Amino acid sequence: MPGIALVGTQWGDEGKGKVTDLLAEKTDLVVRYQGGNNAGHTIVVEGERYALHLVPTGILYPHCIPVIGPGVVVNPSVLIEELDTLEERGIETGRLLLSGNAHLIMPYHLELDRVTERRLGKNRLGTTKRGIGPAYADKATRIGLRVQDLLDPKIFSAKLEVALKEKNLLLTRVYGRLPLEQKEIEGDYLAFADRLGPHITDTDRVVQGALDEGKTVLFEGAQATLLDLDHGTYPFVTSSNPIAGGACAGAGVGPRDIEQIIGISKAYCTRVGTGPFPSEADPADGEILVEAGQEYGTTTGRKRRCGWFDVVGARFAARLNTLTELVITKLDVLSEFERIKVCVGYSYEGKRYDHMPPNQTIFNKCRPIYEELPGWSQDITGARSLEDLPKEARSYLEMLENLVDTPISWVSVGPSRDQIVRLQGAP
Ligand code: IMP
Repeated sequence: MPGIALVGTQWGDEGKGKVTDLLAEKTDLVVRYQGGNNAGHTIVVEGERYALHLVPTGILYPHCIPVIGPGVVVNPSVLIEELDTLEERGIETGRLLLSGNAHLIMPYHLELDRVTERRLGKNRLGTTKRGIGPAYADKATRIGLRVQDLLDPKIFSAKLEVALKEKNLLLTRVYGRLPLEQKEIEGDYLAFADRLGPHITDTDRVVQGALDEGKTVLFEGAQATLLDLDHGTYPFVTSSNPIAGGACAGAGVGPRDIEQIIGISKAYCTRVGTGPFPSEADPADGEILVEAGQEYGTTTGRKRRCGWFDVVGARFAARLNTLTELVITKLDVLSEFERIKVCVGYSYEGKRYDHMPPNQTIFNKCRPIYEELPGWSQDITGARSLEDLPKEARSYLEMLENLVDTPISWVSVGPSRDQIVRLQGAP
């Protein structure tokens, strides 16, 4: 089973880190294929908690090679800081491979992310303000700087000059900010080159070579399906393609290289930032989910919006990613409720939608159609097999499996590695 993609099926923060941890033992390479340090993967390994933003989770396992693929946008100072922090905690980081084709997040990207959000006011996206969107925009307009440019000071300087001329006009004339200095950026970035140089390589060849040798490669998605630039709830999305198809472009492999596609979903649903969220819970239930699920962002610390499992969204994600299986996380959080809602469809102007509505006007205004199930109101954090779960919890899982039409392989019932229920067909 050489190529495995791990994707979020909701709006991110589904607990992908825990699944990587479960798969780590049999994984040789872990490849990030999109996004940047807007992500936050929390992993608990041998009782130690790590919050990673840019470095692939494979760094935590000495036998794994962590790879940052060409589809990622890299803030080099954040990367160096993350590597330093890991080294201080005794994690060897020399094995990290960084694609020379990955684009760099530059200081003006951060500045532009901030000022654009401010200008948008109540229409803002609620970005992580890490410069992600502006960096991908420059990549698309072909004035981006890439990791490999760090290795050639002349090219770096020439490309920076072109980009900075335009950015400084924007910053000073449109946003009334001070211009950024070429020399200062150059000084900082070329110093980063010394540190990152040994990691920079042609990662496409490394990943392809590993697949050819039958090694197991895990393509680690950041963010999630409903935040996908092309298929998510645009414009309230991120600027890359977290879906499984994005792994091909962002890691440099072909569709046939990926054989197993694992979708991760919380037993309920959360979203950070603005944008439509049909199954968002009422404030009282939302607050219970926030507290029981500790729903605060790993990257920004923001409180997440919480709601009920959305079958329409999950079905959409199952098809779009061609999921081979579903992992349900944080089932234990629902133990707080006597009754549990599941959003089984949407309604808009008297019409029922069992699939994603065809346009955003409907999606923005649709109402959830709920089915209610009895809760189990008991601690399930000690469950290790399906039989250990109360019958109400089993019925809940069965309902999700049937409605999403995808087999559930694992169910997580707590944060630590062993708090997992393996179902039939689990990897
Ligand atoms: P950006 O990716 O910083 O441009 O933010 C765009 C949208 O994606 C915002 O709604 C963010 O809250 C959301 N977002 C970005 N990264 C994550 C993540 O790792 N988890 C959840 N939401 C995210």
